Amino acid sequence: YVDPTFSATVIAWQKQHGRHALPWQNTRDAYLIWLSEIMLQQTQVTAVLGYYARFLERFPTLRDLASAPVEDVMAQWSGLGYYTRARNLHKCAQRVVAEYDGVFPSDPALLADLPGIGRSTAAAISAFSSGTRAAIMDGNVKRVFARTFGIDAYPGEKRVEEAMWRRAEALLPETGIEAYTQGLMDFGATLCTRSSPDCGRCPLQPRCVAYATHRVKDLPVRKPK
Ligand code: ADE
Ligand code: SF4
Repeated sequence: YVDPTFSATVIAWQKQHGRHALPWQNTRDAYLIWLSEIMLQQTQVTAVLGYYARFLERFPTLRDLASAPVEDVMAQWSGLGYYTRARNLHKCAQRVVAEYDGVFPSDPALLADLPGIGRSTAAAISAFSSGTRAAIMDGNVKRVFARTFGIDAYPGEKRVEEAMWRRAEALLPETGIEAYTQGLMDFGATLCTRSSPDCGRCPLQPRCVAYATHRVKDLPVRKPK
């Protein structure tokens, strides 16, 4: 049994306190969403904004990106770091053009087969671009889950991570996957943060195991030495 009020609480919080006006929101264009999710994999929102706008000026469509020389893609990425992302971005654009006639598939399993798109990024792209019910699991979500559910094991361990994926799937709402997915991301990034979670304003506090047991500072469990 999974409490449906978990997703309802996240969705309600998102509507009131989450981010709503980012340039990759309020669209279902998978190109715009995919690009943002790749940039956001290892880079904060504030650092991404300028790169995102300039990148789209230079490569307005997936086909523009796919047909550009890789050097141009690298030049536009320059400064964002983690350059494998840029090489994979270019490869991914070429594969979507070649294999899917330039239209991203909506099935997260097909997305996850493309370069640079892991299971969580595939789920996010699919949720935002086609409303598909699929679970995300990034560092922020692991932290929120570890605290809310009092998960007492290192989330980097395979068995623990798999259990978190199963829980994430069981918690998915029947409707409102976009608000829920964005809500989980924003919740972890702005409220249940790593070093200063704002438990006093947290709508999950009444059910938070870490809060109730005074273990907020100790969860998630750190990498064992
Ligand atoms: N991090 C990863 N995806 C994100 C998104 N869509 N909005 C804000 N932060 C994110
Ligand atoms: Fe995170 Fe605190 Fe909310 Fe628990 S009560 S989910 S630790 S912000």
